[in-house]
Amino acid sequence: MAVYSPTFQLQNHSLMLLPKSSCHFRYPSRILASSAVALETPESSSVKPAVQMDVLACPICYKPLTRRGPPGLNLPFTQCVKNFREAIYRSGFKCETCNKAYSSKNMYLDLTVTSGMEEYAETKPPGTELFRSPIVSFLYERGWRQNFNQSGFPGPEAEFKMAQEYFRSAEGGLLVDVSCGSGLFSRKFAKSGAYSAVIALDFSENMLRQCYEFIKMEDPTLSSKLALVRADVSRLPFLSASVDAVHAGAALHCWPSASNAIAEITRILRSGGVFVGTTFLRYRSSTPPILRPLRERIFQGYNYLTEEEVKDLCKSCGLVNYSSKVQQSFIIQV
Ligand SMILES: C[S@@+](CC[C@H](N)C(=O)[O-])C[C@H]1O[C@@H](n2cnc3c(N)ncnc32)[C@H](O)[C@@H]1O
Repeated sequence: MAVYSPTFQLQNHSLMLLPKSSCHFRYPSRILASSAVALETPESSSVKPAVQMDVLACPICYKPLTRRGPPGLNLPFTQCVKNFREAIYRSGFKCETCNKAYSSKNMYLDLTVTSGMEEYAETKPPGTELFRSPIVSFLYERGWRQNFNQSGFPGPEAEFKMAQEYFRSAEGGLLVDVSCGSGLFSRKFAKSGAYSAVIALDFSENMLRQCYEFIKMEDPTLSSKLALVRADVSRLPFLSASVDAVHAGAALHCWPSASNAIAEITRILRSGGVFVGTTFLRYRSSTPPILRPLRERIFQGYNYLTEEEVKDLCKSCGLVNYSSKVQQSFIIQV
């Protein structure tokens, strides 16, 4: 079953947890200025290195990262020093509290807790590890994703249109495409011009590399509006109440802990911000009980939820105005 996961809005009371200053803005202008990653100042550039605060936060302590480099997401393509490759993520980021530097990998900025670690290596559950494979990342947008149609997913174009409808109130703001994969939707959001900036975020290094390749092939100018960030959905590297819209396509079932992920998404959304997600349903309330164990067996390895569980989870994390559309196993939720 596919679920258009419901979109949600942050409940007012959750503001009590947020810095007061964050709560007043509809589209805080600081987001425009500091939404994400930027170019390292090239030696030949006239842009002076600057230390400034960003919407980006340390994934360990959630304090703002100090940034050394030019402001903004990325320099416009025309201002890139050599070519598109040079336009990507050369700023230096550091958490002064944790005394930890976060490095960029040319194509994406690595804001995982394990970034820069030399000895420690961690293996995540299969729903995360599978997509780190180079072959899966390569095949994903070249056929793999089309199979989702058999479970009721209407297809990228229709899913994008549905999401855009739900995101109307967030237009002009910062959108984070969590678990973006190879950027199928991130690129569409950026191309739409409806947002001041789009951050394509995934845990998979290879998915982010694919995303970079697609941007390069399709429209390198997108790089001025679109930044690639590696992060774990359970430790989102953004300040609380700093993001206008969060999208998560076909992802909830892959996350190691859906509750940690939804809690994090709720934390980073500003008051009135919108979350739109899609996932596969384990089964629907109309699925005959005799078939349910079979579906559960088939879906082992992924964290498929029921409609009721998705709704309960979102509500418990403080999201309001839940609505959803279901088509076979597909659910879109807002
Ligand atoms: C099925 S793909 C969805 C890609 C795309 N959003 C779409 O709609 O086609 C699921 C994605 O979730 C990502 N993912 C899995 N675990 C994650 C985690 N812990 N943090 C962030 N992303 C994760 C995977 O790397 C993969 O790219």
